[in-house]
Amino acid sequence: AFAAETTGELRKVDNVAHRGAAGYAPENTIAAFDKAVEMKADYIEIDVQRSKDGELVIIHDTTVDRTTDGTGKVKDLTFEQLRTLDAGSFKGEEYKGEKIPTFDEILDRYHGKVGILIELKAPELYPGMEESVAQELKERNLDHPQNEKIIIQSFNFESMKKINELLPKVPIGVLTSSQTHTSEQALKEFSAYADYFNPHYGIVTEDLVEQVHSLGMKISSWTVRSQEAADFLLSMDVDAIITDYPDYVDPRN
Ligand code: G3P
Ligand code: CA
Repeated sequence: AFAAETTGELRKVDNVAHRGAAGYAPENTIAAFDKAVEMKADYIEIDVQRSKDGELVIIHDTTVDRTTDGTGKVKDLTFEQLRTLDAGSFKGEEYKGEKIPTFDEILDRYHGKVGILIELKAPELYPGMEESVAQELKERNLDHPQNEKIIIQSFNFESMKKINELLPKVPIGVLTSSQTHTSEQALKEFSAYADYFNPHYGIVTEDLVEQVHSLGMKISSWTVRSQEAADFLLSMDVDAIITDYPDYVDPRN
């Protein structure tokens, strides 16, 4: 975290490395997460999905086509099939051989070292994935993460309500890029189970930030891919900035 200044006051802003430091290394791979740690991010953001045979894996798209040398839907491929894919070369030859990580691997390698912002990606495609995620966290005693910096978020609000029941002590975030979710009524409904309201920066205004805070929620906004976007969010009173480039939001640079 670093101190940012708005209206003359210093405040703490968390630096969240989106899919790892995705601007610098292949997203959602160990290379990208290690890079984020090296760049002193406060959190890594990961996208969780599930293989055909039930393994929780870290990948953003619901197909493997864009980020690997394979084709097909994540949910139709076995873990063995997913694990043979090259998830690094699309970002550069030097990353050849990076694998699709598992959720377990990420928890074991990074918990306690850096915060983990866990996105359940398209949970509607993976019935029961909430239970599997909850089990992995409980096995590691990460379900009361005051000091472990674990947050779970999704665009799927029903899934987050379920997570809130399964893991009542773990902070929850709701993701949206839709203005319809910024109404007073919508925000109030989110605040019944969510700790974070996490909007695309295109819908962030001073008023919105104030409303979210007055309902007792924090606000993390995404996704910074330019210095302009970083500067805009730094001028707002947000609690965290989710960025492909951790250095853009770090005042030490
Ligand atoms: O963490 C926020 C951001 O990751 C949401 O969008 O599509 O990059 O998963 P997306
Ligand atoms: Ca994400």
